[in-house]
Amino acid sequence: MGSGRLETVVGGIALENAVYNASGPRTGRVEALRKIGESRAGAVVSKSATLVSQSGNPFPRYREDALGAGRAPGSINSEGLPNEGIDYYLSGSVVDAVKATGKPYIVSLSGLKLADNLEMLNRVAEVRDRDPTRIAGVELNLACPNIPGKPTVAYDFEQMEDVLSQVAEHPLFRSSKSSSSKCPLGVKLAPYFDVPHFDRAAELVLRHKDVVRYVVTTNTIGNALVVDAEHEMAAIAPKGGFGGLGGGYVKQTALANVKALYDRLEGSGVDVVGVGGVASGTDAFELILCGAKAVQVGTTHWTEGAGCFDRISAELDALMKKKGYASIEQFRGKLKPYSKPKGGAKQPKGHLGEGDAARAERLALAVKRMHALVMLLVVALAATAMQVPAIQVLIEGLSSR
Ligand code: DHB
Repeated sequence: MGSGRLETVVGGIALENAVYNASGPRTGRVEALRKIGESRAGAVVSKSATLVSQSGNPFPRYREDALGAGRAPGSINSEGLPNEGIDYYLSGSVVDAVKATGKPYIVSLSGLKLADNLEMLNRVAEVRDRDPTRIAGVELNLACPNIPGKPTVAYDFEQMEDVLSQVAEHPLFRSSKSSSSKCPLGVKLAPYFDVPHFDRAAELVLRHKDVVRYVVTTNTIGNALVVDAEHEMAAIAPKGGFGGLGGGYVKQTALANVKALYDRLEGSGVDVVGVGGVASGTDAFELILCGAKAVQVGTTHWTEGAGCFDRISAELDALMKKKGYASIEQFRGKLKPYSKPKGGAKQPKGHLGEGDAARAERLALAVKRMHALVMLLVVALAATAMQVPAIQVLIEGLSSR
């Protein structure tokens, strides 16, 4: 797969590439999962499964807004967990298709109640008992905000503790005679905005660190509202327009959640996977700098398709090479606190985190302006030389101001 610069290990799962897909967009059907596996993505994560298939919320249930070159579009979604049901994601045809791509397959679960999650774990265990290599890990989603009437588990710490305690007892995650290896468990968290909440979430995860091998942060910022001013209406149909924000709307929240959880979990053996607003290699680099062992891509995968994994990986690889980093571990978690640039050096011009595309756009605009100015000068000089009276009057008028 190239240089090996992007290799990483998440919860004991070895990945050739730290960039892979988020559960959600383009993950519901085998065709889409195969495309992810055939790209440079480091792993393949399924759509969050429920016990039985469901069609989700009414359409339109997704909308995105361009936020400018070099930035992931901002997205809002309220899909309501449309999925084919757990048996589909564990079926021979799906598992074989992913296995053929050589990528680790991680099954995401989002049961509508705890009993559903436990039953889905039984079914994962049946498959893994036959052949542990078929499913590399389970990502338990505790943060879907889009089911009407269902609160987000990751915001109710008592419920979260209950879920984690019961899930952690499942034989899938414990050594047993029938299973040759413990299945790595990742937990997908909601975004937190308050320091005591970072503390509490980390504390609960650490209580189960023998089983919870990594956290994925962050899910969408739930129950936001995007307004279509032209039509004076909500941008999506379900839940009165309320949905989860993703992409460029959430990058800074994702960075903060990765950093906050990294600070609390590093050294415990629980890894952090970052997700939110990744549209470029620089975005991925920033999440890793904040402590992420790997980076998932959601909204950009939705907009761009599986080719985004090739592009973002190539950009990350090139950036690391330019900075002299031979591996993820050489800069992971090494975000420095702000300090004044030494020797009176000015802060770099332009915008922080400006992508190559944005920089190129700014440059092209400057060149265009310069070109227009030169053309004006040429015309003025020519007019003066040729003594074109109207233009001369105009120039004299302008210069006398
Ligand atoms: C959905 C949205 C989420 O943010 C999530 O984690 C799972 C499912 C959805 O609406 O389908």
